Amino acid sequence: MGRTDVNNLKRHKMKKEHVLNCSFSSWYDRFKDLTIKSVVLPLPQEFIDYLHKDGVVLPEGSVQGSSQSRPEDENDDDDDVDWGSGSAAVAVAPEFPEFERLVKKAIQKLGGRVFPKLNWSAPRDATWISFDKTLKCTCPSDVYLLLKSSDFIAHDLSQPFLHCSDCDLEMARADVKYDLILRRWQDLQPGMEFRCFVRNKKLIAISQRHHIQYYAFLESQKDEIISDIQAFFYHMISNKFPDESYVFDVYRKDKGHLTLVDFNPFGEVTDALLFTWEELANDSGELKAERPEFRFLQSKDGVQPNPFAYFAMPRDFVDLAAGEDPYKLMDLLHLKVQTSTSENTSSDEDTTS
Ligand SMILES: Nc1ncnc2c1ncn2[C@@H]1O[C@H](COP(=O)(O)OP(=O)(O)O)[C@@H](O)[C@H]1O
Ligand SMILES: [Mg+2]
Repeated sequence: MGRTDVNNLKRHKMKKEHVLNCSFSSWYDRFKDLTIKSVVLPLPQEFIDYLHKDGVVLPEGSVQGSSQSRPEDENDDDDDVDWGSGSAAVAVAPEFPEFERLVKKAIQKLGGRVFPKLNWSAPRDATWISFDKTLKCTCPSDVYLLLKSSDFIAHDLSQPFLHCSDCDLEMARADVKYDLILRRWQDLQPGMEFRCFVRNKKLIAISQRHHIQYYAFLESQKDEIISDIQAFFYHMISNKFPDESYVFDVYRKDKGHLTLVDFNPFGEVTDALLFTWEELANDSGELKAERPEFRFLQSKDGVQPNPFAYFAMPRDFVDLAAGEDPYKLMDLLHLKVQTSTSENTSSDEDTTS
């Protein structure tokens, strides 16, 4: 990186306030009509403590009978092993009956299937642990399991103001009011999602959101996509969002039908996808915004490796292999024992799976 690039990044240095403005509850009320219906539930301190603790043990009663069979149940070799007391020190099942009641009520209100996240991040790195490998949740334990298994969620909790130029990490974190966000589940076509970069109130750049995939239809629709996003930005977003520079994600269901998905800070914590932050932050560079530049993969040859490949390997097993935390495996197995016990009692037909 040259000297001017570094200066440009400095000029657009993220501030704590910019990060807070992208926190879900800061923008949701103002943009309710443009985005996916959601419920915001303030997190009780005990739940935050539970998320901070190592190990995965679900609260009693959070598991819903039928949808809970997990793929790892295929292997029942370990039925004879007594996992009882050894894991007790770490694996105490917590209880949050009042919070849990609110989660259940919200899931019901949102149609029975929800997408979970905290103030900024969804647990996208933890889909490996869910039954259908998505973030779709139908009961509180689905939500807890994803949140507890995600490094992205841990980041929201431990260092939300990383890369901010104006605050002490520890002090700032204390001011954050954490929420669980539940959003109505949407079956989104990944090729129709776009990330839009706004610098000094101008829409300068648009990237396909899932930048490792090639979507053949983007080439023929590129002009409409740019015009739709420009109109959406200038009419619905730009005069209502408090910052000069930020990033928003949209879903284009079809021509003229756009849904706002999320806001993200303008800075390195946000993935620049098919751009680089050096380009995006450079006021005198190529991206000038008479018309935003739209980038998408032009051919299959451009397909990049899956950035989440690393996350397919449970972080807990990585730690275990490194001998870092022997309690982790016990905790995971404790969970499995709980899950399979509740299945055995709720359904007898399932014994072969
Ligand atoms: N309500 C929803 N239903 C289903 N999938 C969703 C929903 N909201 C978001 N997604 C998917 O999850 C991805 C990440 O969502 P987002 O809220 O931007 O989380 P993050 O900020 O952690 O990236 C989106 O790009 C979209 O593909
Ligand atoms: Mg986001």
